[in-house]
Amino acid sequence: MNPIRIGLLGCGTVGGGVVQLLRANADYLAQSVGAPLEVVSVLIRDTEKERVPDLDRARLTTDPEAVLGDPSIDVFVEVMGGVNPARGYVERAIDTRRSVVTANKMLLAMHGAALVERAVSKGVDLAFEGSVGGGIPVVRVLREALASDWIVSLEGIVNGTCNYVLTRMRTDGLGFDEAVREAQAKGYAEADPGLDVDGHDAAHKLVVLAMLAFGARVEAGRVPTEGIRAIEPIDHRFAERFGFVIKHLAIGRDRGEGVELRVHPALVRRDTQLANVNGVLNAIALEGRALGPTLLSGRGAGDLPTAVSVVADVLDVARARRNGFAGLATRGIQVKERPLTSLDDVRGRYYLRFQVHDRPGVLAQLAGALGDAGVSIEQMVQEGGGGGTGQPVQIVLLTHETLERDVRRALEAIAVSSVAASVPRLLRIQE
Ligand code: NAP
Ligand code: HSE
Repeated sequence: MNPIRIGLLGCGTVGGGVVQLLRANADYLAQSVGAPLEVVSVLIRDTEKERVPDLDRARLTTDPEAVLGDPSIDVFVEVMGGVNPARGYVERAIDTRRSVVTANKMLLAMHGAALVERAVSKGVDLAFEGSVGGGIPVVRVLREALASDWIVSLEGIVNGTCNYVLTRMRTDGLGFDEAVREAQAKGYAEADPGLDVDGHDAAHKLVVLAMLAFGARVEAGRVPTEGIRAIEPIDHRFAERFGFVIKHLAIGRDRGEGVELRVHPALVRRDTQLANVNGVLNAIALEGRALGPTLLSGRGAGDLPTAVSVVADVLDVARARRNGFAGLATRGIQVKERPLTSLDDVRGRYYLRFQVHDRPGVLAQLAGALGDAGVSIEQMVQEGGGGGTGQPVQIVLLTHETLERDVRRALEAIAVSSVAASVPRLLRIQE
């Protein structure tokens, strides 16, 4: 039986997991495909680096040509990350009619639709289960299991690093930097962890999900994106006091005329499923018109969980190649440009935290500015200060449902008044 020959582009956290899984389950995988799976060459940058012990170091090369120019390779697995040179390598693999498996959500968010078109035109597959949700099979669920339904919304915790950091800060009192270092050590973070904590990785994943769920081709840079750097321990405390926890969410809705996509931290009611997804776990809640709600949850980052998704794609692609139906899976993905809803037009409830000086009339000024903008206050808590002596105090307000445009108008008015001692914190409440 001729083996399926794999060219591995990158062998870091995920690539190492792929090598381990292919070795650990070799017999079972060979039976399932009808041929052994063999990693024949591995592109990396540094030949001296320590790698997983399962890797045959003789396969390592720093020469892209040695891998991409090898006509005997059946499948390329791209787990390098970044757009360049990964994009050129993936395009070359497709152009030479080899299928590609990738976990690179940044590449997919920037060029996914074009790469899918290219794969379709060449009759090969482009598989990317590992790009969203680590080991959670959300890509397959959207592409196959729910292909018959109309997805109206999705809402998820899709960045393991952010969820890990928020969880460690909230439950164990860790500082932000320490929690990020832990996530890096565990292999959850991107090579540049700023992509995680500033929300860009989640935005990339949301663009991939929007392509599958809503058939939307969206520019990643246009998705309103906020990270978790600005969340302070005091926000976790206040959130808890009101019955919420803070989660970093990716949210998408099909609004008919367009799609609403946004990535930001949000207050989630404590007794909901998403609120109880902690640490590196991810969860994606999908709402189908016919199906109703469904929730997928599991380990969203790390070597082996992600390798489970990547190797499952390798199996699919290898079977398709052996059986002469390569390219069919990619053909099912249809996308078109869809306009993005502005955040101004989103309706919701808001958590607003102001640091002010405790003086008579301060509260009236805040309430007045909000009232003038048509924003109604539902609850309020003040912490610190004492006796209206001008000391700094924290005031947290929860609003009734309102348009984001109106909240922003009120905050702008407050910012130019003398009342707020620092930039107010706005967090959305996700119902
Ligand atoms: P990583 O640990 O930084 O590994 C990247 C690998 O690619 C390394 O082996 C590196 O070589 C190699 N590489 C990078 N640029 C290269 C270049 N220009 N030429 C040759 N080799 C190059 O990254 P990772 O965490 O495995 O992530 C890989 C991809 O999977 C990314 O797209 C990431 O977003 C995605 N992903 C990661 C996870 C996760 O939990 N980590 C989960 C899902 C998806 P050296 O080893 O020599 O430096
Ligand atoms: N850095 C990513 C995360 C890896 O933390 O979720 C998984 O895509």
